[in-house]
Amino acid sequence: MTDAAVLCNAGKIISVGKTRDALKDPWIKKNKRRLTEIDCGGRVVLPGFVDSHTHPAFAAPRLVDFEKRIAGATYEEIAEAGGGIRSSLAGVRGAGKAQLSKEVLKALHIFAAHGTTTVEAKSGYGLSLAAELKSLEAIRSAAGEWPGTVASTLLGAHVVPPESHGRADDYVKLVCEEMIPQVAKRGLATSVDVFCERAAFTEDQSLKILAVARSHGLSVRAHVSQLTRTSLKRLLAFQPLSLDHLDFVDDNDIRLLANSNTVATLVPGANYFLGLQEYPPARKLIDGGAAVALATDYNPGTSPTANMSFVLSLACTQMKMTPAEAISAGTINGAWALGLADRKGSLEPGKDADLAIFDVTDYREIAYWFGSHLCKQVIANGVPITPTGK
Ligand code: NIG
Ligand code: FE
Repeated sequence: MTDAAVLCNAGKIISVGKTRDALKDPWIKKNKRRLTEIDCGGRVVLPGFVDSHTHPAFAAPRLVDFEKRIAGATYEEIAEAGGGIRSSLAGVRGAGKAQLSKEVLKALHIFAAHGTTTVEAKSGYGLSLAAELKSLEAIRSAAGEWPGTVASTLLGAHVVPPESHGRADDYVKLVCEEMIPQVAKRGLATSVDVFCERAAFTEDQSLKILAVARSHGLSVRAHVSQLTRTSLKRLLAFQPLSLDHLDFVDDNDIRLLANSNTVATLVPGANYFLGLQEYPPARKLIDGGAAVALATDYNPGTSPTANMSFVLSLACTQMKMTPAEAISAGTINGAWALGLADRKGSLEPGKDADLAIFDVTDYREIAYWFGSHLCKQVIANGVPITPTGK
C-alpha cells in the first residue's frame, strides 16, 4: 500500500490504512497533542522480522572451525576432531550469568538493528543442568532489557557432552528427568528443541525428549534432516510448532508437513556459511503446500549472522523463493512457528506494534541489496529502537 499509515497506542496497532483515513480517526482527533509522528517518507514499512530460530547463548566465535572449513574440513569432521558444538561448552560453562546475558543482549541489539523485533532464543551450549539453566536465565535477563519479544527454547539435547561420551541414553535421561521438569517449573522456556541427527541424538531419543516436553506442557520443535534424512512421520505426531533445516526432506515428508500445522523453518544462512552447494528445497515445500518460515539460525558454528534481509536474499537467489514469499516467511510464518501469530508477524489492528522501516522504495529491494544494512528504524512493542543498538 502506498501513502500508508500505521496508528499505534500503548504498544499495540490501532489501525492500518491510508494516511488520510488515519487522520480522520477519532482517537487521533482527540489526542493530537500526545501524538508522535514518524515520517517514513516513501520508505517501506514492514512488520518487524520474526526470527524463529537462533542460538545466541554462547561466549565466543569459533574462528578455528571457520579456518578449518576453508581448508577443506567438513562440519562433521570438525566436530569429530573436538571442534563444533562441544568446543563452545567451556566458554559457556565458565561464563557468569551476567557475562552471558551481556552477550545475548549485544546480539539482540544487532537483530533489532536489522529489523527483527521477535527472536526465538535457544540454550544448548551448556549441556549440563546448571549451564543450561544459566543460559536460559541469561536469555531471560537480556530479554528484560530489550524492547522486542524473546521466545526461549531449551536445547539441552544439542549434542552429548564429553563427560557423557558413550552414555547418550544417560544424558537423555538427564534432559528428560531434570532439565525439562526444572525449566517447565521455573517457566524458563516455552519450547524444547532437539538435534535429531547422526552425530547428535537418534530418532528414538529425540521422540522421548519431545514426549516428556509435551507432558510438561511445553511446545516442541526439532533440528532435523540437516545432514542426513530422518522421516518426519513420528516427529510430526508430537505436533511440533516447527521442524527446522529440512535439507533432506522427500516428497512423502513434504506431504506430511503440508497436512500438518507444523511450520518448515529453513535456515539457508547455515548452508551459505558451511559452503554447501545445495540448499533446502523451499520451492518443493511451498508448491507442495507446506508453510515455510525463514530464520537466521544465528550461532557460532554454522550461521553467525543476525541479518534477516541477507537470509531473505539467500532464499530468493539460492532457493527461488519470490521476494514476497521470503518476506512472509520472515514475518508471519515465523510468528506461526513460535505460536505467536495472534500477536506478531503482520501489521493488523490488535497486534503488537512491531514495525521495521527500510530505506528503500520497493519491498523487493530488501532481498535485492544483499549484505546491506537498510533498516532505518525499528519499533518494538511500541518502543522506538535506534538502529545502531546503542
Ligand atoms: O542449527 N545443527 C545444530 N545446531 C546448529 C549449529 C550449532 C553449532 O555448530 O554451534 C545449527 O546449525
Ligand atoms: Fe540451529
